[in-house]
This record gives sequence, structure tokens and C-alpha cells, in this order.
Amino acid sequence: MKAVRIQSYGDEPAVQDIAMPEPGEGEVLMQVQAAALNPLDVQLQAGYLADWFPLAFPFTLGTDFAGVVKRIGNRVTAFREGDAIIARPDPVRGGGFAEYASVPASACVPLPTPLTPDEGACIPTAGGTAWFALLESAKLKTGETVLIHAGAGGVGTFGVQFAKAAGARVLATASGDGVAFARELGADRVIDYRSEDFAALGEPVDVVLDLIGGDTQARSFGLLRPGGRLVSTVSPPDAEKAKAKGVSASMFALDLSGDRLAQLVNAVVNNGVRVVIDCKVPLAGFPDAWARQRSGHTRAKTVLLL
Ligand SMILES: NC(=O)c1ccc[n+]([C@@H]2O[C@H](COP(=O)([O-])OP(=O)(O)OC[C@H]3O[C@@H](n4cnc5c(N)ncnc54)[C@H](OP(=O)(O)O)[C@@H]3O)[C@@H](O)[C@H]2O)c1
Repeated sequence: MKAVRIQSYGDEPAVQDIAMPEPGEGEVLMQVQAAALNPLDVQLQAGYLADWFPLAFPFTLGTDFAGVVKRIGNRVTAFREGDAIIARPDPVRGGGFAEYASVPASACVPLPTPLTPDEGACIPTAGGTAWFALLESAKLKTGETVLIHAGAGGVGTFGVQFAKAAGARVLATASGDGVAFARELGADRVIDYRSEDFAALGEPVDVVLDLIGGDTQARSFGLLRPGGRLVSTVSPPDAEKAKAKGVSASMFALDLSGDRLAQLVNAVVNNGVRVVIDCKVPLAGFPDAWARQRSGHTRAKTVLLL
């Protein structure tokens, strides 16, 4: 079968022919139909996350994928052959950018009927970060105002929709065609970060979802109301600065263990959240998809078709 592999940190990912995996105890063998790219893949490949997610090489990339169960290992009772599923194994396991993947059954959930495999593959990392960061970490409530940085990106497109569904006023940053894109998804106001100063938006906010870090994060503190909450997915916020401003600020780390992936998929379906795919690429076109993801300037999700 074909798989996208690296031999070491920093190695350029390449499509290779490798042996089919076998489902171990508690695992299912999935025929992968679609896999979504995330900044996480780029960070794993570069070795930036080696302290948290040490990889064993050769490593098959891909943490978010969907497809059909082909075989089940011993002690798997939750799934049967032919079931359509979404998988999000531990990032150190990867395996999704391949025609077949062996995955712990505990890291899989059924693909709900209204969703296609392409859409299902996009949900775990991007959708999970948006949902748990906004609703669980920031505790966003109806009637509050939230600023979502990078509202046209992978996490942002889910975030804008989840925040609207929660009854919040949604402000977002984006640039170029991303401005109209974030508006179409329901953002009430979108600031073009390249031509306008978001820090001068003149509207206090209760919550900031920081998907950018650095100067963007630092300048977002000034927008928060007393008692407001900043949640960053990128870099730990300055605790002293938060204390001085009378706000809370925390670093988010995605946890999709236990039944949290199932909770997330239900949240997508029950809130009528649209899974937005900007680009679908066949396996042979992987280098293009990889270059797009690495640029940091994509819209919504890029999907690899297996
Ligand atoms: N801690 C965690 O558990 C966790 C989980 C998931 C994601 N993350 C991190 O969260 C970040 C966002 O993830 P993602 O999947 O949404 O990434 P993504 O899809 O690659 O985000 C791309 C978007 O970022 C926008 N952007 C770039 N610079 C910007 C700026 N200065 N201001 C506003 N928007 C800007 C781009 O818009 P333009 O093209 O218009 O520039 C583009 O639409 C990544 O750094 C990722 O590693 C962390």
C-alpha cells in the first residue's frame, strides 16, 4: 500500500510503498478514504513537538482521518467490518496519510450519516480545538463577545460557527478573501489584520481565542473586559500581564481521549456546523497539499483523498 512517510525529523515527506498494517488486539484496520492536514503534521515532521510527541521512525504522517473498517482485531466489540468511522489516534501513532491504517478502536467513532468521509476527517483536531477551547476552556456564554484570530483557518472556521451557535457576538481577524469567508460563516464583524489594527477595534470582548500567538496575543489583552478570558493554542500567555489586567489567560492543549471525540462529532452535527473544505488533493498531489499547509495561509481545511 502507499503511505506518506518521513525517516527522521525534518525529512521531506514522501509517498512510499510499504507493507499493509495488521490490526493488533483492540484495533481496527481501516481503509482510509480521506485524511485532513493540520499544522500539527508540520510541527511533528519538523520535530518541534519531540518533547511531547517523540516519534518512532520511519513515521507515517496523518492524525485525522476517516474511512471504512476492513478487519477487526481481537477484543473489538464496538465496530464491525464495513462500518464508516472517523479516527484520531495519539499523534505519536499517526498513520492517516496511507491507504490503510491500523488504529485503536478506542480512538475511533462512527461517521454520522449526514457527513462524508472528507468532512469527517476534518473534524478531530481543528473542530476539537475550536469546541473545547471556546466552550470548555474559555466557557463562552450566550450574549458574550468573542474575538477569534485567524477566523478563516482550520480551527477558526469551526470556531466562528460554534461561537455563533452558542449565541455569542463573533469578531474575527482574517485577510484578503478570508474576510468574506469568515463573514459567510457567521462572523458579525471581520477585521482585515493586514490593513486594519485589530487592537483599535473599539469594542471590548469577553473572550479571545488566540490562534496566532506572539504580538497578536500580547496586543489582544487590551481588548478584554475585566474578568475576560484569553485562551491560546499557540504559546503560553503572560500570567503577570493577565493578573495586572484582571483577566484570565491560559494555554490550551487538545485532549480527545475517552468519549471526547464522540462529544465533538455530536456537537458538529447538533449545532449544524458546516465542515468547510477548501481543497481536496489525491495522494499523488501530496507535495502541493503539504506546501499549502506549511504556508500558514490556508482557508478552512485541506483534505488528502486516499
Ligand atoms: N495547542 C493545541 O492543542 C492546538 C490544537 C490545534 C491547533 N493548534 C495551533 O493553532 C494554530 C491555528 O491552527 P489552524 O489549524 O487554524 O491553522 P491554519 O488552518 O493553518 O490557519 C491558517 C490561517 O491563519 C491565518 N493567519 C495567519 N497569520 C495571521 C495573523 N497574523 N492574524 C490573523 N490570521 C492569520 C491565515 O489567514 P491569511 O491567509 O489571511 O493570513 C489562515 O487563514 C496553529 O498554530 C496550530 O498549531 C494548537
